Amino acid sequence: MEILRNVVVLVHLVGFAVLFGAWVVEAVARRVRVTPLMNYALVISLVTGLALSAPWGLDHDLNYAKIGIKLVVLLVIGALLGIGSARQKRTGSLSPAIFWPIGILTLLNAGLAVIWR
Ligand code: HEM
Repeated sequence: MEILRNVVVLVHLVGFAVLFGAWVVEAVARRVRVTPLMNYALVISLVTGLALSAPWGLDHDLNYAKIGIKLVVLLVIGALLGIGSARQKRTGSLSPAIFWPIGILTLLNAGLAVIWR
């Protein structure tokens, strides 16, 4: 059970790595845009995060205040990705006010995960 939980944590980390990595690639190339890979990675983070929110394969209590905040942050990232890709399709460009918070909020969620125990 514990090994299975660790595998789900690993897949959760892959979701984070792909979401943040996909965003960094665009930021470093100075392309203010969202990509489909970000959506897939967000879904991976959500599904595995929800699976990890159930208390199985654990010897400690879960921090549900932290989990709740992470879920809200993820929903905001999802909304930004949705609004961003719709605007991008319509106008061909994306406002930095949508692009930057996507990376910052992703990093915030990873920070919450590892710093707030
Ligand atoms: C962009 C979104 C997210 C990012 C970047 C993220 C990041 C992380 C990271 C880096 C860890 C590993 C922490 C560690 O083991 O030291 C983690 C664990 C975890 N995450 Fe997320 N996460 C995200 C979304 C979510 C969501 C939406 C939920 C639940 C609704 C969630 C629930 C959890 C749980 C329960 C753990 C394991 C905590 C434990 O076993 O003690 N995460 N997350």
